[in-house]
Amino acid sequence: MRTLALVGAQWGDEGKGKIIDILSEQADMVVRAQGGNNAGHTVVADGVTYKLHLVPSGILYPNTDCVIGNGTVVDPKVLLEELDDLQAKGVDCSRLKIDARAHVILPYHIVLDGLSENARGNADIGTTKKGIGPCYMDKAERIGIRMCDLIEPRVFAEKLKNNVEIKNNIITKLYGGEPVDYREILDSYNSYAKRLKPYVTDTSVLIYQAIKQNKNVLFEGAQGALLDLDVGTYPYVTSSHPVTGGFCVGAGVGPTLIKDCLGIAKSYTTRVGKGPFPTELDDEIGRRIREVGAEYGTTTGRARRCGWLDAVILRFAVRVNGLTGIALNKLDTLSGLKKIKLCVAYEKNGAILKDFPSDIAELADCRPVYIELDGWDEDISQARSIADLPENARKYLAAIESEIDCKIKMVGVGPDRDQNFNVD
Ligand code: GDP
Ligand code: IMO
Ligand code: MG
Repeated sequence: MRTLALVGAQWGDEGKGKIIDILSEQADMVVRAQGGNNAGHTVVADGVTYKLHLVPSGILYPNTDCVIGNGTVVDPKVLLEELDDLQAKGVDCSRLKIDARAHVILPYHIVLDGLSENARGNADIGTTKKGIGPCYMDKAERIGIRMCDLIEPRVFAEKLKNNVEIKNNIITKLYGGEPVDYREILDSYNSYAKRLKPYVTDTSVLIYQAIKQNKNVLFEGAQGALLDLDVGTYPYVTSSHPVTGGFCVGAGVGPTLIKDCLGIAKSYTTRVGKGPFPTELDDEIGRRIREVGAEYGTTTGRARRCGWLDAVILRFAVRVNGLTGIALNKLDTLSGLKKIKLCVAYEKNGAILKDFPSDIAELADCRPVYIELDGWDEDISQARSIADLPENARKYLAAIESEIDCKIKMVGVGPDRDQNFNVD
């Protein structure tokens, strides 16, 4: 393994948590480099379900170091709750480190996330309302508060005072909302800071040392390529960079230090939040996929929009991430469907597009061009090799590979750790 980056190849929720957990067994270090607790990564280990938001999915293995890198945004209250919850389940969290440069989510970010979404009315993005966008806005505006500030009480008090004044002006005067209370935030965040201080360090140095010592380092993506602020379906995106390039800036490592890039995809497509979705199924099959696949958000509980697998999207993910392989999850969810459709191109005003459009206005006008394959009836949740799959399932995998110019290296047939196999 040495260094391997794992990213979502669609709109998030592809089953990254499961694959990272499986690969973490051989990892010395697992690194999160972007996003925050908008992420929800589910790991099912020996029948116990863990829902991780900020803590890297490697935490369940006793010898794996875990890093929350500089490119992330950290809600200290949520992180502490997550650590408490893990510890209550017997998980040792002492191997966690948080980068001193990671930005801190404050209550005014969460308030502003809600107010700005409401103000957009029908044009809302459908954010998770966890304060992610407003926190990254402060980072770009260069008024953000970082972990290194949080753990220095005097620095924190001063920066907080300035920011609360600015934010309360926006909250009350622009949106007519309720102001946040400086004293209350100061007290609660000072207590979070005391508990988090031992975890805070320069993680870029630790990651570099691990790589130089030939250790196995896994980079854990959150969200997915289509939610990338630059190359995703803007403005229906998150405010960070969930592509492999995001690991370089978000973990403080150069691109030559990351060797392989695995894209995680579902055997169909889902999306939470708003924005165009060419293969969306607003019908009985879409509802069936949602129920059989339990497609409800890990973070917000929202019903996920469901549709057929879209090879145009996967080709895009292969390109923007430089993927060296795909892990395809949830093949079991498609069992029992008579016919399975695979989108291989888009049609727009009579023209055929093979590449994902850069403008969502154009995407909204695209119609999917499908090939149709026969489905399979067998329960495949016990399959542990390609040979165990019904012929039609194998044909489906072959059809996907021939469209995307990338090998399917792993297949998922259930949520548990062992319901997955490698493809030689
Ligand atoms: P992530 O955000 O990419 O980590 O994905 P989520 O955890 O939000 O959503 C994926 C869901 O699918 C979780 O409930 C997983 O337990 C589940 N899952 C992952 N792989 C498989 C699979 O191969 N089959 C089935 N049926 N469920 C899976
Ligand atoms: P994981 O890591 C799916 C979506 C939100 C919304 C948009 C912007 O579990 O795959 P934000 O709160 O980030 O400003 O919301 O991005 N979104 C996700 N969708 N999985 C996620 O994470 C997501 N994180 C954010 O639904 O459409
Ligand atoms: Mg998720």
